[in-house]
Parts: sequence; C-alpha cells; structure tokens
Amino acid sequence: NWSMESFIEMEMEKIREQVGDRKVLCALSGGVDSSVVAVLIHKAIGDQLTCMFVDHGLLRKNEAESVMKTFADGFNMNVIKIDAHDRFLSKLRGVSDPETKRKIIGNEFIYVFDDEALKLEGMDFLAQGTLYTDIIESGTTTAQTIKSHHNVGGLPEEMQFKLIEPLNTLFKDEVRKLGSELGIPDEIVWRQPFPGPGLAIRIMGEVTDEKLEIVRESDAILREEVKKAGLDRDIWQYFTVLPDIRSVGVMGDARTYDYAIGIRAVTSIDGMTSDWARIPWDVLEKISVRLVNEVPNINRVLYDVTSKPPATIEWE
Ligand code: XMP
Repeated sequence: NWSMESFIEMEMEKIREQVGDRKVLCALSGGVDSSVVAVLIHKAIGDQLTCMFVDHGLLRKNEAESVMKTFADGFNMNVIKIDAHDRFLSKLRGVSDPETKRKIIGNEFIYVFDDEALKLEGMDFLAQGTLYTDIIESGTTTAQTIKSHHNVGGLPEEMQFKLIEPLNTLFKDEVRKLGSELGIPDEIVWRQPFPGPGLAIRIMGEVTDEKLEIVRESDAILREEVKKAGLDRDIWQYFTVLPDIRSVGVMGDARTYDYAIGIRAVTSIDGMTSDWARIPWDVLEKISVRLVNEVPNINRVLYDVTSKPPATIEWE
C-alpha cells in the first residue's frame, strides 16, 4: 500500500525532527491506538522511546502477558509494566455505584501513571493515540483523560510534557491499516473494543478477586468459542457480565446456590447503537455447558437480548 508506506515515512521523519535526541514516554494499553503509536514512534527513534503499561488488575485473561510478549519481546521495545492490581482493588473495596467505580479507576490510573512517570528521568514528550475522531468528540478515552490532566497544570514542572499525537489526522479504519502495515499482529489490530475501566464495569456491585476470576474465566471461554465458530469478525463486541444475583441449582443430588453469568454479544457499526447478536443456538449451548462446567460458582447462564438503546453495550 503506497500511500500508507509514504504516510509512515513522513510521520517518522516528523517524529525524528520533533524529538531530536530527547526522550518520549508512551502509555501503552494494548489497544489498537496506543499500540500503533508506540510501534510507529519506536520505528522512528528506537530506544529513545519508553512505554509504560499499567496493569490495573482488571484486564482479561492473559492480556498483560500478551502485551509484554508482543511489544517487549516481539518488537524489542522498552516497556515498563506496572503491576497496580493491589492499588486499584483496595480503592474499589466496598464501592458498588457504577459511576463511582469508573471515577475511582480513571483517577487512580492517572495517579499511578504520574507516580511512575516521575521515577523516570528526562522524559520530554508524551505520546498519545489520539485519533481525529477524539478531537472532534468530547474526550472520554484514557488518552484524553491523560491529556487534559497533563494540560491542567498543578503538576510538578518536570511533568509538563510536550505532546506527540501522530494519529490525530486518522480515522479508526486507517489506524488499523497502519497497524497491519507496521507488522502489529491481527489479534491487536482487530481487537474488539475493551473499556478503560476493564472488567470492573462488568461486575455489578463491589469488585472482588473472586468475582474478577469468574468474569475473567468466563470471558476467556466465550472468546474461545466465538472464535472457534468463526464469528469473531462479525460480532462487534462479546463478553460476559456478572450480575449481583445468585439462584438455586442442582448438581448431582446436591442443591447449589450460586451466581448467574450473563452473555452480552452485539453487532454495531460504531458502538453508538447496537443490536444483540444472533449467535446460533448450538454455539450458545456449547458456551453455556462450558461456563457451568469450567467456571467455579456459576450454575446458570443468561443471554442479553436487548438493543442499544435502550440498554447500553456495557452493563455499567
Ligand atoms: P456503552 O456501554 O456506553 O459503550 O454502550 C459503548 C462502547 O464504549 C465502550 N466503553 C468504553 N471505552 N472507556 C473506553 O475506552 C470507557 O470508560 C468505556 N465505557 C464503555 C464499550 O465497551 C462500547 O464499545
């Protein structure tokens, strides 16, 4: 693809010119936007780039390992992984209101990022995966939060980064093309959307390690079966949710009283509206059997058949 190749060459040249021999910090989430930014900048300036990957403990199964494997091992990039599970979980203890959970996670992300960025010496630039659409719309992405935060002052002098936003003229489909051209694996380039607050907003009520384990394991099974059925490119987003309800079941000749797990799968163009995905019943059956057999403390499986509106895609 000639135009993508020349875009890459031009952007690399711009980045080299802007940065000179100084250093760039990039917040890497494993999502497509931050991945593309990181790889593009790394291609331009190599080890002058440091990436910071904050693992808030609310990620999907194997996600942290996979990010490290792809970028630190695969692309040979400088990636610092921050294990912040305890920090986030302790802030979330006893909190069940959805908006409060979101706010706590958003703020904590900034605090962790700042604490760790301060430990690094001589970072002059902050790279962000801001897209053209992020600029037009109001900022709700993690990148935007960091951006507004770092722009509002009140931070130590050494934290006043200059911004690099090489994707800010691109739309999502162009970012995916660019990602493929840069050799980023399909599983990242074509990844389904995953919210910044992670699994926390797929657990109704208080977030605990026990419940995280249930959504994490069930989500992994759902993803595996959807992929096996060849539906992963047709369904916009698919995941499990843990409503805060238990119901009675029977196992052998014993009564159980355990959690019900919900499956949310939607088709959509842009996430603004959506329809529930018509997953074939035999696929749903396989998923259901595996969920009750393999995930501890689950004795019932529900399928969410609501469009957006009136429901949202996520449950919180
Ligand atoms: P809702 O639940 O509002 O979600 O229908 C629409 C799309 O946005 C994603 N989403 C988020 N993405 N940070 C994000 O980066 C967030 O806080 C967030 N909340 C929802 C959701 O997964 C869906 O794709």
